[in-house]
Amino acid sequence: MSQLSSETSLISPSHTPTKDVPLRLGVMASGSGSNFEAIAQAIERGELNACIQVLIYNNPGAKAAARADRLGIPAVLLNHREFASRDALDAAIVQTFQNYAVDWVVMAGWMRLVTPVLIDAFPHRILNIHPSLLPAFKGVHAVEQALAAGVKIAGCTVHYVVPEMDSGEIIIQAAVPVLPDDTAETLQARIQVQEHLIYPRAIALAAAQALQG
Ligand code: GAR
Repeated sequence: MSQLSSETSLISPSHTPTKDVPLRLGVMASGSGSNFEAIAQAIERGELNACIQVLIYNNPGAKAAARADRLGIPAVLLNHREFASRDALDAAIVQTFQNYAVDWVVMAGWMRLVTPVLIDAFPHRILNIHPSLLPAFKGVHAVEQALAAGVKIAGCTVHYVVPEMDSGEIIIQAAVPVLPDDTAETLQARIQVQEHLIYPRAIALAAAQALQG
């Protein structure tokens, strides 16, 4: 049952306007950083009232760092291989974000588990994007998992980060069809179009919810 065209998406809920004070975002990325750049572009277009204070990346040579350079956004490498534990890495992340006066943390393709050291420093203010319709297909290779399961609808989810992987409260999801000849690459590309749309909206929505208490 694949009745949606490849251009069709289902996004919920609808856009919520941001308030007057710009959000101070800290972004975490491990690889390409296309979501990072999509958020920066949404800010540039005036669709999200925010400023990206700093990008943290963990892999030397990550394309996200080159994007930050081009966008004029500070980028800090915290190479997880140089830390004795997850807690030690997360303590350095917290310190960096505090140095840059970050008040919202945006995980955009951060491929490391995070600990309460980070989560407790930004209570209910850390978001993550995952390339599946959670709670389906948690963890790594979510797109491959979806293809292997034979689902006809796939998608992406922005959610709050809690200690249990990919399990926090859902903020926004978008759905895309799985087409008969899809590979992981073609399905991932279709999902990413939606990721770039929903992540800025999810940030605005989470901030609006925080203001409402
Ligand atoms: C995105 O598709 C995101 O959903 C996924 O990594 C990709 C990063 O792309 N995240 C996860 O799988 C987290 N478990 P990007 O670097 O181009 O933004």
